[in-house]
Amino acid sequence: MIRTGCAADARAIASLHAAADPPGWSETSWNDLLRQPATRIHLDCADTGALHGLLALNLAADEAEILMLAVAPGFRRRGIASRLLSHALADASGQGAARAFLEVAADNNAARNLYARAGFITVSSRAGYYARDDRFVDALVLARDLGKHAG
Ligand SMILES: CC(C)(COP(=O)(O)OP(=O)(O)OC[C@H]1O[C@@H](n2cnc3c(N)ncnc32)[C@H](O)[C@@H]1OP(=O)(O)O)[C@@H](O)C(=O)NCCC(=O)NCCS
Repeated sequence: MIRTGCAADARAIASLHAAADPPGWSETSWNDLLRQPATRIHLDCADTGALHGLLALNLAADEAEILMLAVAPGFRRRGIASRLLSHALADASGQGAARAFLEVAADNNAARNLYARAGFITVSSRAGYYARDDRFVDALVLARDLGKHAG
């Protein structure tokens, strides 16, 4: 089930994020984000209420920016991220967004495959944007138009 996150979810979201994409963001950061009127947070939940995936998106004018997409390591390759993305893009389109964009590290093949399958294309890059232990990796800016029935 996908539901919208609220302030009471901040701790669980921070915990999922830290496990899925270390070090993640603090509970305080998520708390702040959950209170932003322009930010929408979509959560994939089990029947037990446990969170398995999250997607945070910012809406500004007619653009939607995906801030974070992460799925718990034990629940990957089950289509959770694809469903969250589809749900979030349809929701953003319904809110008036005409285009979606995001940044992804050039060496993140899992995310790049996921976004390519969802119709995103690379529109620009930022050289050496992400610092790894021993090197720098480019950030790719991906974008996709949102049709009337995005998803
Ligand atoms: C990227 C991530 C969100 C994918 O979540 P997921 O729920 O496993 O993704 P899905 O099951 O919906 O996968 C959809 C498609 O994406 C691609 N994909 C997903 N994981 C992949 C992997 N490890 N290697 C290659 N392709 C992958 C595949 O094309 C996959 O389709 P398939 O399973 O039919 O082959 C997850 O790996 C994650 O949380 N990574 C850490 C955080 C992160 O990098 N977030 C993105 C930041 S921009």
